[in-house]
Amino acid sequence: MRKINVFDTTLRDGEQSAGVNLNFQEKLEIAKQLERLGVDIIEAGFPASSQGDFASVQAIAQTIKGSSITGLSRSLERDIETTWQALKDSAEPRIHVFIATSPIHMEYKLKMTPDQVIENAVAAVKLAKKTFPQVQWSAEDASRTELPFLAKIIREVIDAGATVINLPDTVGYTTPYEIGQMFRYVSENVPNIDRAILSTHNHDDLGMAVANSLAAIQNGAGQVECTVNGIGERAGNASLEEIAVALNIRQDHYKADTGLVLKEIKRTSSLVSKLTGMVVPNNKAVVGANAFAHESGIHQDGVLKNKETYEIITPELVGVSSNRMVLGKHSGRHAFKEKLIELGFNGTDEQLQKTFVAFKDLADKKKDITEDDLFALMTEATVGASVTHYELETLQVNYGTTNIPTATITMKLPTGETVQEAATGSGSVEAIYNTLERVIDEEILLMDYRIQSTTAGRDSLAEVYVTVKYDGTESSGRGTAHDVLEASAKAYINAVNRTINRKQFNEQQRTNPLNV
Ligand code: KIV
Ligand code: ZN
Repeated sequence: MRKINVFDTTLRDGEQSAGVNLNFQEKLEIAKQLERLGVDIIEAGFPASSQGDFASVQAIAQTIKGSSITGLSRSLERDIETTWQALKDSAEPRIHVFIATSPIHMEYKLKMTPDQVIENAVAAVKLAKKTFPQVQWSAEDASRTELPFLAKIIREVIDAGATVINLPDTVGYTTPYEIGQMFRYVSENVPNIDRAILSTHNHDDLGMAVANSLAAIQNGAGQVECTVNGIGERAGNASLEEIAVALNIRQDHYKADTGLVLKEIKRTSSLVSKLTGMVVPNNKAVVGANAFAHESGIHQDGVLKNKETYEIITPELVGVSSNRMVLGKHSGRHAFKEKLIELGFNGTDEQLQKTFVAFKDLADKKKDITEDDLFALMTEATVGASVTHYELETLQVNYGTTNIPTATITMKLPTGETVQEAATGSGSVEAIYNTLERVIDEEILLMDYRIQSTTAGRDSLAEVYVTVKYDGTESSGRGTAHDVLEASAKAYINAVNRTINRKQFNEQQRTNPLNV
């Protein structure tokens, strides 16, 4: 069985998805979960792109020791030095340096000749190799690069010290057959290829990212780059969970495996979905809500007689069975704490207490508390707690089919003062948002609003995701509550709080820059 290294780029390419803006705490939380999942390499960000990225890559590098941490870098001296400063404390410092190699990118984007590109790539790898033991080099737009040129530049960068060669399908253009040919060509025509691991990185513009990744693996790739839930630029990247499970279920065919802790897949997917606000479609392979639901009578009958008639993946394999009743109204603090630790809780006593109070409150309203409920409460109390400037104290909504919806809200302001406001709207949510806008006393535009339930059943927790434009920037926010209106208010306040946090962080970096 060949071991395929998993290179997760959720925090870099995934974070480039439109509308996604993870904060420092959220990135760290995702990195910890990726470590638990057992990914070999976490691409934590692009340190030279912003002070925020630098700080989160550095914190992840200092915290995570079970996975190798890497950061993206252009082929520039300044980028390479900044990336080193961010990563030098990691367990195995690794840089990911790239330059485009396709004719269209070289001519129009880089305005460089092929020889200049080779010269630049070699110089960048040599410089990186002075500090980094592991240097990954990527040929951006490799799938549209002329193969003889690709072979030539790869040979040169391996001689310069690159240990991993990544061949991305940057624009999601290639097909499984073609990518297989590219990997085979490189394996057969680069004389020093045995000194490097080949890596594949695919985008999903034509819906073939996972198929292309698997074809590359069959043709020599020893590393696969992917994101949780397939999030990423445009149509996204190849989805980690689909590749990992395909390799596991079809070991007979691929004769390769990732070594991931597959039962952590569902939780990783839920965390990324919650923190990015990118909802997983119900029919998404492996992690969608319907992935294990048998709807037709014939299928149900078959599964009852023998599961394997229609079920090729067991829900337990990817941790879906965890969604069972785990605690109830009478569960005590001790059992609660044990369960939370089992779910990966590593917050403070204060956060534990906050989650316990929220749990008791929910248990009064909901009969069965599942792991998904606890996970939602825990995320809210830990990662959610990292952003509090405005705090909702009370919310009252007056709605009737024949009267004008009115909301009354009491809020704690960043100054510590408590204020009360009321406003009307054409619906309850609008009334709430109009009231909040009054309290915050600035124009806030609602760009997107989505709602979903945490579990099945009419007593489920509600999760609301919003995108707002506030103070000149777009920011996403989420809120979880037993009531949809309260969740709506919390999501809106969360988006505003996140904007303020980001502004404060940028201001702090401007006046007291990191020494990079
Ligand atoms: O898609 C791509 O080409 C990339 C590179 C920077 C590796 O993300
Ligand atoms: Zn990419």
